[in-house]
Amino acid sequence: MTKKIVIIGAGFAGVWSALSAKRLLDLRSQNQGIEILVIAPEPSLVIRPRLYEANASDMTHPLGALFEGARIEFLQGMVRSINYNAQTLDVRSWKRRYPAKEYPGIQQHTFDIDSLESATKLETHLRDLASLPPSPGRNTIVVCGGGFTGIELATELPKRLGHISDYRVVLVENTDQIGLALGPGPRPVITQALEDLGIEVKAGSPVAKLTPMAFLLLLQFPAPKDELSRLHVDQYLRIPTIENAFATGDAASALADTKGHYALMSCQHALQLGRVSGHNAAADLLGEPMIEYSQAAYNCCLDLGSWGAVISAGWDRKVKHTGDVAKRVKCYINQQLIYPPHDSQEALTLANPNWPDSDQLFEQMLQAVG
Ligand SMILES: Cc1cc2nc3c(=O)[nH]c(=O)nc-3n(C[C@H](O)[C@H](O)[C@H](O)COP(=O)(O)OP(=O)(O)OC[C@H]3O[C@@H](n4cnc5c(N)ncnc54)[C@H](O)[C@@H]3O)c2cc1C
Ligand SMILES: *[C@@H]1O[C@H](CO)[C@@H](O)[C@H](O)[C@H]1NC(C)=O
Repeated sequence: MTKKIVIIGAGFAGVWSALSAKRLLDLRSQNQGIEILVIAPEPSLVIRPRLYEANASDMTHPLGALFEGARIEFLQGMVRSINYNAQTLDVRSWKRRYPAKEYPGIQQHTFDIDSLESATKLETHLRDLASLPPSPGRNTIVVCGGGFTGIELATELPKRLGHISDYRVVLVENTDQIGLALGPGPRPVITQALEDLGIEVKAGSPVAKLTPMAFLLLLQFPAPKDELSRLHVDQYLRIPTIENAFATGDAASALADTKGHYALMSCQHALQLGRVSGHNAAADLLGEPMIEYSQAAYNCCLDLGSWGAVISAGWDRKVKHTGDVAKRVKCYINQQLIYPPHDSQEALTLANPNWPDSDQLFEQMLQAVG
């Protein structure tokens, strides 16, 4: 019987999981009997960390040739349900639309940048504002949520609103601190950037909370989840209560070090979680020992629009670089580092789970950008 590794989703974690599994099978020359299949709505990688930037509709990267070259099967569709006992999946060819919660006027007046589709809608809306008669309403953009993404979007907006005079960008945050999860280290830098860019900050102002039902499939898993609805996994990224199942990327609640830090819902973590989960799925089928997931080093780079950026080091987020240097690193991350190569052999080589850690990567990037 053919053995199969099925990967649901072609985000950063899914792509690198498929490549990493394939890399190990190729190394062992035993891939004849084992197929790798990726199921996702499109054969392309949406570069989600860039969806706050202008030209959001360009933030995708084709995967068809890469998968073909690496001999990874691709099936276009959405997985609707999984039957663990029968080891089968129900795949639909249509895209599930997640209903927005019903708040009056919500559809017409709010946007999100969670998906390529929604970020493109915002892009069009911002562009079309110039054709509307000027009014305070037209000129005011309210960004809801002063976390990582909210700060990146708010600081990017002045650049993207150059075609409108007298615009106002207001950043509204529920708690009394902007960038609460980013810690006290980078806060003075963030505050300075917001002030210099003329962004109005309203902290301690709760907005009606909108939670897209993006985790519908995850919620179906008969397994324990954390407060972000991520599946608990063991050190090999297996879901302990489900046989033959791994969770990875944003879907996994994985311990990243021995000090109690869990992987974040970030690209940095998704890439490595992907490599390890794919490797382990293949190792498991080959009867080889699996490797433990660990990602102790952590560095974070937050974009602050035309003001620059801020790089913080460690889980306690000590500010290491700001301004222009940090901005060049951010551009390098967004425009180069997170894109998979077009060449499949190169991609398979880069899928090695023994990947430089975050400290080494940031060191290399700082050198690369001068
Ligand atoms: C605006 C924005 C800014 C961000 N900024 C940063 C940043 O600066 N730094 C950083 O590290 N991270 C950032 N992130 C987070 C980062 O994008 C995510 O952590 C990362 O994309 C997670 O990768 P993933 O592969 O786990 O999931 P995703 O990239 O979300 O990929 C999930 C994949 O699964 C597919 N899928 C979902 N459901 C199904 C189904 N039922 N069947 C089949 N396929 C399915 C999706 O279509 C997609 O292909 C940002 C995110 C956003 C939205
Ligand atoms: C957006 O795309 C247009 C058209 O391709 C281009 O002229 C413009 O420079 C792009 N803007 C940015 C910020 O990349």
